[in-house]
Amino acid sequence: MPDPRNLVNLAEIEAAGRAALDPVYVDYIAGAARDEITARANETAFARLQLLPRMLRGGGKPQLDVTLLGSRASMPILVSPTAFHKLVDPDGELATARAVAAADTIMIVAMAATVAVEEIAAAARAATGGHASLWFQLYIQPDLELTERLVRRATAAGCEALVVTVDSPARGANERNRRNGFTDLPDGLACENLRDPRDGESGRVRQIVMSPEISWSHIEWLRGITSLPILLKGLLHPEDVRAAVRNGVDGLVLSNHGGRQLDTVPSTIELLPEVVAAVAGRVPILLDGGVRRGTDVVKALALGASAVGIGRPVLWGLACAGEAGVHHVLELLREEFEHALTLCGGTSLRDLTPDLVRGASR
Ligand SMILES: Cc1cc2nc3c(=O)[nH]c(=O)nc-3n(C[C@H](O)[C@H](O)[C@H](O)COP(=O)(O)O)c2cc1C
Repeated sequence: MPDPRNLVNLAEIEAAGRAALDPVYVDYIAGAARDEITARANETAFARLQLLPRMLRGGGKPQLDVTLLGSRASMPILVSPTAFHKLVDPDGELATARAVAAADTIMIVAMAATVAVEEIAAAARAATGGHASLWFQLYIQPDLELTERLVRRATAAGCEALVVTVDSPARGANERNRRNGFTDLPDGLACENLRDPRDGESGRVRQIVMSPEISWSHIEWLRGITSLPILLKGLLHPEDVRAAVRNGVDGLVLSNHGGRQLDTVPSTIELLPEVVAAVAGRVPILLDGGVRRGTDVVKALALGASAVGIGRPVLWGLACAGEAGVHHVLELLREEFEHALTLCGGTSLRDLTPDLVRGASR
């Protein structure tokens, strides 16, 4: 295992992660829907935006910490939910959880994790010696009893918010997986949150269903069974964004699933100004997709996001050096973000305003 500290940016960590993995798993992680146009656009759209910094503001060391829906994080950079961490590291989500907790930020635990949410939470708390901020990502299942059981488990495990992924009425079409014949987890790995507790250790693991039947009525139902904050992840159309606010959701994750669902949707950073306008300050907006540099974080926050999430970089870090690799990804991004904020003349996140960004559609 290489010493990840020798890798100076997320692109180098990605290269090391790819080199460490079976090419079939590289394709699973790097791949996206169909022609992967949106996945590429997520990154290139950040590069197209320009920063226009302020000078001579006389600030001190920037403050990076945020509180999002009651959960504190030492920086506005979170870990987006990604499935199957044991594909890339034997400790899987346990290693990720320790690294994220040590970096003092929020991990959004995927429903499709290969470790049960209770064990992930215990690992995160052990890493801090106390509290760790975890949210739980949910695909609402047509079987509402199963969905409710999952919500209860995540809540009992200490998850502080639910992130409901709504962009998956059908599974995304990653043609690399099809070509590679990658359809199922290898023997010995399973979505542990879907193991039926009544069947015990050796028990049956339910399949996650991506159902086109899920509707606003399910969100209303969910509101009725939990008092946790509910964020919707994957709304793109401004009308849907307005409907979410009307329906009383607590936050949004502006996400196109890393380009893994419908190809040719816009990059998230391009859409952000429109979504910010539709929300009009009523709920916080998080953004993920293509965040690879501290300057990307600056641009997203300047255009109105409260925080960003990263998906693939965490998996590349995990693949190249386990827990230490994930930790390095988060610390590199923190350092880059703080540096870029300082160079923009900012001392707090509030100093990041839309006038610092050139080239955004408004
Ligand atoms: C391998 C992989 C698995 C993912 N699994 C999930 C998932 O189970 N649930 C979900 O809501 N999003 C999932 N996502 C999407 C991420 O949460 C996130 O939206 C996306 O990765 C952000 O883009 P980025 O990878 O460019 O940072 C997955 C993404 C990847 C790359």
